[in-house]
Amino acid sequence: MDERVTLRSHLDRSVQDTPNGPAVAAVIEALATASIGLADLIADGPLAGITGRHSGINPDGDLQKDIDVAADEMMRHALGTAPVAAVLSEEAELPEVFDAAAPLCVAIDPLDGSANLENNISVGTIFSIRPSGHDIVSTFFEPGTAQCAAGFVVYGPQTTLVLALNGSVDIFILDRRVREFLMTARGVRIAPDTPEFAINASNRRHWHGPVRAYIDECLAGTNGNGGADFNMRWIGSLVAESLRILVRGGVFLYPADARPGYREGRLRLLYEAHPMALVMEWAGGSATTGRRRILEMSARTPHQRVPLIMGSAYGVRDVAAIHEGIEPMFDNSDAPLFARRGLFR
Ligand code: F6P
Ligand code: MN
Repeated sequence: MDERVTLRSHLDRSVQDTPNGPAVAAVIEALATASIGLADLIADGPLAGITGRHSGINPDGDLQKDIDVAADEMMRHALGTAPVAAVLSEEAELPEVFDAAAPLCVAIDPLDGSANLENNISVGTIFSIRPSGHDIVSTFFEPGTAQCAAGFVVYGPQTTLVLALNGSVDIFILDRRVREFLMTARGVRIAPDTPEFAINASNRRHWHGPVRAYIDECLAGTNGNGGADFNMRWIGSLVAESLRILVRGGVFLYPADARPGYREGRLRLLYEAHPMALVMEWAGGSATTGRRRILEMSARTPHQRVPLIMGSAYGVRDVAAIHEGIEPMFDNSDAPLFARRGLFR
């Protein structure tokens, strides 16, 4: 991009005609500012006393590291300075009310993928913003279509902010010299059919039939019914996988599987799947559980999990097609039925 567009100037311009525009801009700016401090802390790691030590278990049963707690405090502190009615964080059991009269509610995963930190692999912050309803807490139980903005920050070789706002997805990179985010890609569009998939293949024996059938067809490539030979990636860091999809397409799958605790998948609806689904759709991609559009799903509990299949529109359509007409009760069967359903029609 030739023109120098800072996050601040972009926000000023793009929220002019948005409902709650100045409030949405203030929340995004608060999160972006906090993410610059968090990027410093992550880059320093052990030099700044971050040891990766486990300091407890979060409300959803995940091991919590010292950096998870620090990231949560930094994001909460930043949101406390913005017009926020309530915050639901991965690190707290229930939404916390900040200022009941404020116009926005925020769901946040302060540090996604922190299991990767000691390996110097990209981690991130994911956020979802929605207008607060009359009953603040029930705002979080509305479908993902209620979101007015969402995005994520990737702390990697670069600190990258992906922002879905006003129907557009734009990418910013932190200029460390001036501590400001600068736009590097405007109106990102996801390639509709990149032959690349991402899944934790070690869980294959636990997958349900439709997912196994899809991946088997990808692996068979041009030797099977598929029109292309597929490549595979698995980083184990949702933010990094999502950025890769925006840049070069592909399909990411974290499906439900037969393991205890994974019947509804692994990822959380409110601060992982909903915001990623908004980013995907506004960039021309899709996000589904296999059977339902993620943005139409509503949470029943704050930390509800959901199967997440997202990315290039044609790829996600192929996964949904193989689920079609298969009753969920038969998902678990190893039936050759799935093998006979040609995928890439
Ligand atoms: O927040 C959950 C997370 O760390 C994601 O970033 C990532 O996609 C996933 O877990 C990896 O899960 P697994 O370790 O089961 O492959
Ligand atoms: Mn996470």
